[in-house]
Amino acid sequence: LDNGLALTPPMGWLSWERFRCNVDCKNDPDNCISERLYMKMADLMVTEGFKDAGYEYVNIDDCWPSMERDSEGRLVADPLRFPSGIKALAHYVHSKGLKLGIYEDFGSKTCAGYPGSEFYMETDAKTFASWDVDMVKFDGCNSDPKDMPYGYPVMEFFMNKTGHPMVYSCEWPLYEYSHKLPPPDYAAVRRNCNQWRNYRDVQDSWESVSGIIDFYGKDEGGFAQYAGPGGWNDPDMLVVGDFGLSYYQQQAQFGMWALFAAPLMMSVDLRSVTPEAKAILLNKNIIAINQDPLGNQAVRLFEVPGSISVWVKKLALPKPGTVAIGILNKDDAGVPVKYKTSFQDLGFTNKGGYSVTEAFENKPMGSFALSQAFTISVDPTSLFMMIAQPRP
Ligand code: DGJ
Repeated sequence: LDNGLALTPPMGWLSWERFRCNVDCKNDPDNCISERLYMKMADLMVTEGFKDAGYEYVNIDDCWPSMERDSEGRLVADPLRFPSGIKALAHYVHSKGLKLGIYEDFGSKTCAGYPGSEFYMETDAKTFASWDVDMVKFDGCNSDPKDMPYGYPVMEFFMNKTGHPMVYSCEWPLYEYSHKLPPPDYAAVRRNCNQWRNYRDVQDSWESVSGIIDFYGKDEGGFAQYAGPGGWNDPDMLVVGDFGLSYYQQQAQFGMWALFAAPLMMSVDLRSVTPEAKAILLNKNIIAINQDPLGNQAVRLFEVPGSISVWVKKLALPKPGTVAIGILNKDDAGVPVKYKTSFQDLGFTNKGGYSVTEAFENKPMGSFALSQAFTISVDPTSLFMMIAQPRP
């Protein structure tokens, strides 16, 4: 969407995967969906270095509003859980130098049963703008996905009409996909949305993460080519720092999301994130790959089913012709896979060869002539990633 926003993939924090629809503030005040939770996460994004690393959005997901709209049809935040209201929360988040995102649904109700935007899009767009919200995630439950190609642009129209800049995060292609409709018209999606979900919700497991990676590898309908400044495919939240992934699986998710030029939305309890997970989330090299101004989304060059796959993302920095190469081992058989290749075998053509750095640890690996063979060892369910710069 050409609204001047999301020129690189948005980075931030989103409550859904980790905190879900916990509305029990009486018994679980620290973990329920409430202004306290978002304020705390905003605080920690600043004090723990996430803001400095580029994380910017603090995003509310489902379950924030009252069950009833007000007498003028406007949404109201649940008064017990958001006693100060969303506008005050936005101002708090802004005072930290961060931005606030909110959630609504295209249909009659949100997935969790809260009031949806059906028949209220103009009102809701105006309400969000009047609250100084910076991003709107628009879900698609309780609607007919056949209406989405018409309806999602209507919300974009009303958001744009407010004159208040808001990133528009859509779930339209996901609902078309899950209702087995014809492949989404990604050109239209890109024209109307700053980012868009196209596959199932991420869960806190390697099975879920590797399923999403497979979907992105297949790239049905060629959605990868639509990624670029202003519009991004969204493989869903990061579960780095949660319960279900090993250290190397967390690294693999983070690295793959960087290669996908994906929005980097953490969904983790920042109060208790381990130093190891934090180091992954703050890895400068990987974030730079994700945020590269070219905005290219990695494609899968090939895959040995169930084993090694090779992914390439073109980068503009530090110089044109640079590529990030991911070698992912999906296999959970306990032995590292040794993968022998050369730049020529991978289809690269720079005559002078490449100088190569391992990306996670920023370790120089030396220079490689175009046809020079090298062997990479990739641990089970792990990602090896390197940055290759063309040599003169
Ligand atoms: C479905 C979405 O895909 C999720 O990301 C989340 O927003 C839930 N709905 C909330 O109900």
